[in-house]
Amino acid sequence: MPAIVLVGAQWGDEGKGKATDLLSSQIDYVVKFNGGNNAGHTVVVGTEKYALHLLPSGILTPGVIPVIANGVVVDLTVLFEEIDGLKARGLDVSKLRISADAHVITSYHRILDKVTERFLGKRQIGTTGRGIGPAYADKISRVGIRIQDLFDANILRQKVEAALDQKNQILTKIYNRRAVSVEEVVTELLSYTERLAPMVEDTALELTRALDAGKTVLFEGGQATMLDVDHGTYPFVTSSNPTSGGAATGSGVAPNRFERVIGVIKAYTTRVGSGPFPTELFDEWGEFLTEKGFEFGTTTGRKRRTGWYDAPISRYATRINGITDYVLTKLDVLTGIESIPVCVAYEIDGKRVDEVPVNQTDFHHAVPIYENLPGWSEDITSVRNFDDLPKNAKDYVLALEQMSNSRISAIGVGPARDAIVVRHQLVG
Ligand code: GDP
Ligand code: IMO
Ligand code: MG
Repeated sequence: MPAIVLVGAQWGDEGKGKATDLLSSQIDYVVKFNGGNNAGHTVVVGTEKYALHLLPSGILTPGVIPVIANGVVVDLTVLFEEIDGLKARGLDVSKLRISADAHVITSYHRILDKVTERFLGKRQIGTTGRGIGPAYADKISRVGIRIQDLFDANILRQKVEAALDQKNQILTKIYNRRAVSVEEVVTELLSYTERLAPMVEDTALELTRALDAGKTVLFEGGQATMLDVDHGTYPFVTSSNPTSGGAATGSGVAPNRFERVIGVIKAYTTRVGSGPFPTELFDEWGEFLTEKGFEFGTTTGRKRRTGWYDAPISRYATRINGITDYVLTKLDVLTGIESIPVCVAYEIDGKRVDEVPVNQTDFHHAVPIYENLPGWSEDITSVRNFDDLPKNAKDYVLALEQMSNSRISAIGVGPARDAIVVRHQLVG
């Protein structure tokens, strides 16, 4: 099995970290190809709980080589904090590789993220405030700082100057903030070069050679399909391509090397930040899902918005990503609900619509059409075989499988590493 991509199918926090961790014993490399420390993956290993942001979740498995590829934006303070945190807990992070082409998040990106959000007021995106959008904006505007720039102090100074020329005007004249000093930024960035140097390389070349040698490489997406800057609920999205196509551009591995696309999807839906969410609940069921699913952000601690499963979104994710297999997570959270509503289509301006509409205004107006599926009350957290699930839980999974246009190959029944029911092998 060559290159495998794993993506979020909804608005993030589907349990990608846990799914990656599950596959890690069968892979040689794990690659983060998009986003930065806006991601938050909680992985529970025995009695230990890990919260990862910038490092790919596969880093928790000894022997797996973790890679931060060119499509990622790297906050170096966070990188070394996370590395030191894992080292202190006895993990080996010495194999980490970072692309020379990855862009750097600097102090002015973090400042701009926060001030622009404040400026937007009611129209704010609800970003994680980590400088993600401004760093990607600089990349596209061709005034970004790349990891490789840190190894030539002259070039670095010139590039920071070029970036700050315009930004300091914006910060002081529009936002009434202090100008950022070029020297301060340069000094901070240069302070990391010694530790960084041994990790930096041409990761596109290494990954392609690894694939040529028959190694298995897993590309772990951050964020999710509906947060994709092209295919998500724009402008309420992140600034990268978390969909499977982003794995090719974000890593330099050619698209024809990818053979399997795993979508991670919750048995219900959550969202953090602003933007449309047709199945969102504002009643006691919403509270039930928040409390029972412990739906609080790994990165910002914000309470996640919650709602029922949205089948048109799953069909959309299947189509946009080419999902071959789903990992359905958090089925255990639905235990105890007598009848579980599932959104099968939308009503938009009096008409039934079966697919996610291309027009954003229509999506804002979409009213879910629900079908009620019978629930179950038995505890399923210790079930490990599909046939041992209560009949209604099995039927719920089979109904979702039918609606999502792709097979459900694994089912999460609890946060623990082994709390999973595997129906079809995901690797090999
Ligand atoms: P990610 O960003 O996609 O990696 O997901 P997060 O880690 O932000 O959020 C998923 C949360 O659900 C984490 O706290 C996981 O420990 C937890 N989780 C994952 N799978 C399951 C599951 O099958 N059941 C339950 N109850 N929790 C799960
Ligand atoms: P994981 O990888 C959920 C959301 C933010 C905000 C929007 C833009 O854990 O699934 P950004 O800081 O990226 O500019 O914020 O995207 N967002 C996430 N929501 N899970 C994530 O990552 C997210 N990363 C960003 O809440 O609405
Ligand atoms: Mg998360």
